[in-house]
Parts: sequence; structure tokens; C-alpha cells
Amino acid sequence: MQTIQSINEMQSHAISLRTNGCLIGLVPTMGCLHEGHLSLIDIAREKADKVIVSIFVNPTQFGLNEDFDRYPRILKEDLALCEDRGVDIVFNPDIADVYPKGYSTYVNEEQVSADLCGVSRPNHFRGVATVCLKLFNITRPDYAVFGQKDAQQCSMVKKMAADLNLPIEVLVGPTLRDADGLATSSRNRYLTSLQRSDALTIPNALEEGKKLVEQGVRNVDRVVAEVTHHLSQCRRIRVLYVRVVDRETMEPASEIESGKHIIVTAAWVDQTRLIDNIAL
Ligand code: PAF
Repeated sequence: MQTIQSINEMQSHAISLRTNGCLIGLVPTMGCLHEGHLSLIDIAREKADKVIVSIFVNPTQFGLNEDFDRYPRILKEDLALCEDRGVDIVFNPDIADVYPKGYSTYVNEEQVSADLCGVSRPNHFRGVATVCLKLFNITRPDYAVFGQKDAQQCSMVKKMAADLNLPIEVLVGPTLRDADGLATSSRNRYLTSLQRSDALTIPNALEEGKKLVEQGVRNVDRVVAEVTHHLSQCRRIRVLYVRVVDRETMEPASEIESGKHIIVTAAWVDQTRLIDNIAL
């Protein structure tokens, strides 16, 4: 496995791989890799000849009072996991190279990103779109793989790729859950064991919503109320939103259709912000 820090080196390497007919799969990450990321690497592996994992904690997608400074950075462990999983290249650029002094260009997707996390995290998706486009330009992937847990991010990147005519197929891997049901996330590391057991209220609440739909309920407000009620039983949890949306476009549902809609939620568990979703 190669580790590349230099943007120029990564870009010229990617261009020469493509010239030699290699299909490239990119898994963009901020490190602190977990089983969810590893499953995305497996998806890239199935499709591509060379798998690149980028590890970059992207400052532009964090708000002023968010967790950029304390975001876990465990490069050595991440590299070992990538090596074990058969990754070909880890791209780990420096912040000062990605955003040099005087940097002033940003990408704004204005539809999919407007609502949900776009409201509670202003500028978050601008940062994600910007860094993803930069990573795409540097690593020249045929496939870029993201996880369904970040449903709005997946839709936004797909929309950006379509709107900007990027020659990239965006693939979405299923949400991976730990044995207790909590969706894998680097931010789970912030949780104490008590907080973690309370955080399980999130997947449980989503399951309650899904159960209603399985019983034939099609009314969005009823399902949202059920999930919100379940979440609000937990003292540590502060709900940011619970919504039923189209799984592709993130547009709000007016009447629930199985296979088309998902319930999405974001909530604080004490100081940790978690997101999750469930297909209906
Ligand atoms: O999902 C993430 O880890 C990040 O938002 C991404 C896609 C790597 C961009 O920084």
C-alpha cells in the first residue's frame, strides 16, 4: 500500500493509472475508520482495479463551534486497517495544501443541501461539496463510494456530480450497525457507555416509525410524531429533526411510499451530534 501526501503526486499518479486503463475507486473519509468505512472499501474493491482511500479532516465542513479540533485523528491505526483491507493508496494531504493561503473557491449545491442538516449546520454541505470536488479532481475516480448513513450527503454528492457533469459513478453502501443497533460512526467514540446506551434510542425510534408503516400507516405526521415521541423519552437526547423524505432527492414526502421514502433524523446525545435513517 502506498501513502501519498502530495496533491501533485496523487494527481499525476491517478492520471497515469487511468492512462494505463485502470478503473479507480475512491472512498473519501475523515479517518477514524470503522467497519462502515471498511465495507465501502469492499464495494470500491469489487468495482475498481485500484482503491484509493482519502483521509482528510476537512475544516470547511465544520461550523465554528463544532468538533473539528477534537475530531479523532488516529492515522497509524487507519493505515493498518487500510493495509489489511487491501487498499492500494491512502491519500492523506495537508490542510495547508488543500486550502492554501488565499483559497477562495467553494461549491454550493442549493437544493438537496438546503434542508435537514443544511439548516442546523450552515455551510456544512458547501464544505463537503468543495472537498469532494477537489478530491475527485485530484484522484480522478471512476467510482466514489459513500455510506447511506449520511443520506443527505449521498444525495448532495450525486446531485453535484450530475449538475457538474462529473464522469464519476457515485455508489452508496448500506448503513453498517454495531451489534447493539447503533449506526457505525466515528463520532460514536465520543460517547460514554451510558450515553451510548441512550443513543440506541435513535435506531429504536426509527424502527418504531418503520413498524407503523409496516402496519399500513401512510400518514407522514403520524410517523414523525411516533419517532419524535420515542426520542423525547430519553433525557439526554435533543432532537434536531425527524422527517420522512424521498431517499434519492431528500424532498419531503406527502404520503409514505415503501421503497421510495426514508425516515431521517439528527439528534444531540448530550454533546454528540448523531444522524441516522431507515428505509421504509
Ligand atoms: O463523510 C465524510 O466523512 C466526509 O463528509 C467526507 C465525505 C469525507 C468529506 O470530507
